[in-house]
Amino acid sequence: MNILSATGIDKSFKDSTQTIEVLRGATLEVEAGQMISITGQSGCGKSTLLHILGLLDDPDRGELRIKGASVRAKSSSAASIRNRDIGFVFQFNYLVEDLTAAENVALPLLISGQKFKDAIKEAYSMLQRLKLDERLHHYPNQLSGGEQQRVALARALITKPAIVLADEPTGNLDPANSLEVWKLMKMLNEELGQTFVIVTHDRDQAALADKTYELSDGKLHLL
Ligand SMILES: Nc1ncnc2c1ncn2[C@@H]1O[C@H](COP(=O)(O)OP(=O)(O)O)[C@@H](O)[C@H]1O
Ligand SMILES: [Mg+2]
Repeated sequence: MNILSATGIDKSFKDSTQTIEVLRGATLEVEAGQMISITGQSGCGKSTLLHILGLLDDPDRGELRIKGASVRAKSSSAASIRNRDIGFVFQFNYLVEDLTAAENVALPLLISGQKFKDAIKEAYSMLQRLKLDERLHHYPNQLSGGEQQRVALARALITKPAIVLADEPTGNLDPANSLEVWKLMKMLNEELGQTFVIVTHDRDQAALADKTYELSDGKLHLL
């Protein structure tokens, strides 16, 4: 079953002097439980595409389907789909500096109304999975870049979204830490059956996925 598909996606940005056509008929299909990667040069539109896939922005043209249903970012159901079905990992982790690792991870659960005690317990177990059991009470500035990115991954996964969209999640990490984060994503993908769409400009990393698309000239090409 296709859990996520995008067909004929166009997206352009206008400023006072010019229009940049970023996406021109981008099409992709993602099966449930797959780990797919999207690679391409800087500025080719990878983040733009991921925002559209995550219902953060609407395309100018084309159709997005999540779990078989056609959806738009501006529709009334978009917010609940985003909260329930989609987890985002960004290149810059946006951890809250005044909260510990565990509190950062618990945050989405607290926002959805869960009790603090239960939320923090779940955060501990997710952080343990990501080999951060020694860092539960550390603040982001006390963590290495790789550890911060794993905390961000834990936070995106704590609500167990069916689809995880990751925008250059290893973009700021050295090769050893990048590989570690990839292995953890792979482990979660296999253990929990979550679907991953991972954007990376690194072709070698992209090749670790089940299926790789290259974005160029506004289109997706299966590699
Ligand atoms: N909100 C925006 N307004 C205007 N231009 C944008 C906007 N977002 C992205 N762009 C432009 O679209 C192109 C693709 O950007 P982006 O999707 O961030 O590329 P990538 O993630 O592949 O590096 C770039 O030329 C960028 O400047
Ligand atoms: Mg980008």
